[in-house]
Amino acid sequence: MPERKAERVAPAGLSVLTASRRTLDLDAHIVRSRAEHVDYDRVTRMQRWDVVHGLVAAMNAGPTGVGIAAPMVGVGLRAVVVTAGAEPLAMFNPEVVATSGPERTEDEGNLCLPGVRAPVTRPSEATIRWQSVNSGQYKTETFRGWEARVLLHEIEVLDGRMFIDDASKPPVGTWRPIDDLAGRSVAGLFGEGSPTRRLRDPLSLAVLRPKLLSLDGVLNRPAANVDLDGLGREHLRAIVESMLHVQYQHRGVGLAAPQVGLGLRLIVIDIGDGPPVVLINPRITDRNDEQEVALEGCLSLPGWRGPVSRSTAVKVATETVDGATVDLEFAGFAARVAQHEIDHVDGLLYTGRMDPEAELTPTDPDAVAAELVRRMQATEAAESRRTADAHRSSAASRPKKRRR
Ligand code: NI
Repeated sequence: MPERKAERVAPAGLSVLTASRRTLDLDAHIVRSRAEHVDYDRVTRMQRWDVVHGLVAAMNAGPTGVGIAAPMVGVGLRAVVVTAGAEPLAMFNPEVVATSGPERTEDEGNLCLPGVRAPVTRPSEATIRWQSVNSGQYKTETFRGWEARVLLHEIEVLDGRMFIDDASKPPVGTWRPIDDLAGRSVAGLFGEGSPTRRLRDPLSLAVLRPKLLSLDGVLNRPAANVDLDGLGREHLRAIVESMLHVQYQHRGVGLAAPQVGLGLRLIVIDIGDGPPVVLINPRITDRNDEQEVALEGCLSLPGWRGPVSRSTAVKVATETVDGATVDLEFAGFAARVAQHEIDHVDGLLYTGRMDPEAELTPTDPDAVAAELVRRMQATEAAESRRTADAHRSSAASRPKKRRR
């Protein structure tokens, strides 16, 4: 990366933003205080786009973000980026002018509180006024549905408010550091009362904090059945905890043992709507005829995603950590994740399920951020040209006015 020119270093320390692709963990810091108005005389156009670029990169570092507010990456400025609508939007100094429409209650989460969700009631329409990144021109627009919800959610972050403050029910899940999250999850799965034990090493194998492994054979062949008696409960526990750790660390929703180099029919799934699920020697016993196409990604193929058609519901026969055999039903997104992970233990990647004509799209945070920023810049430039044309044609047809 070329070195930055001295004059581009922001006086207010904005340069920290462009390097950051992580959202902050909450408590009592900048996320909970009121963000500052963006002064267009002080924050240059280039710096404003830097802010946008940093926000988009941070948002895309995880799989689920559709909106982000500058305080969430540690920058106390009134700026939000939202990709919930057809076009990505960057708003500076946004204000909610009015809300209308019937109120709706839906589950929300925030990148700063991973694992926490809560139902929030919001109006279904919101009229927002904001300044464009390029020129600071004011714009007012009414947004509806999901896009309105995401905007209201992000704009309240600028005032130090979080969705949990307005939740209609107590939040589900509690934010924890990843180590703690994996520890607690595994304690719950193994029926231990309080998660006092730390990750330890019964057989000095699984607790080597496995890393995601690239495509080197183990991912491309069917995995072996787990022999629970042979493996032993302690060892199983260590592997499951390690796998959950890797999954949480990479903000995945599921992980199969072959992805960390273990050729075992063992899967962890945590889509964030309840305790994690462990599948041992799982088999799909029934599936819904109805199929749905959606984009999938995989921690073993970082930086890409592609469209895959999957059954909308499946029944899975699986063993539990206690050795019982149970039938589990998965529907919707959980069904997609279960099918994706069971494919892994069969040695199949989602790319093998894609239509041969379909293409992979990049999800690399930098590539996605660069592309989104390019789109937003093009949109704003086109709007500036239209405005300039309108001014020219009206100037031609009326007496000259003094320029502002
Ligand atoms: Ni995968």
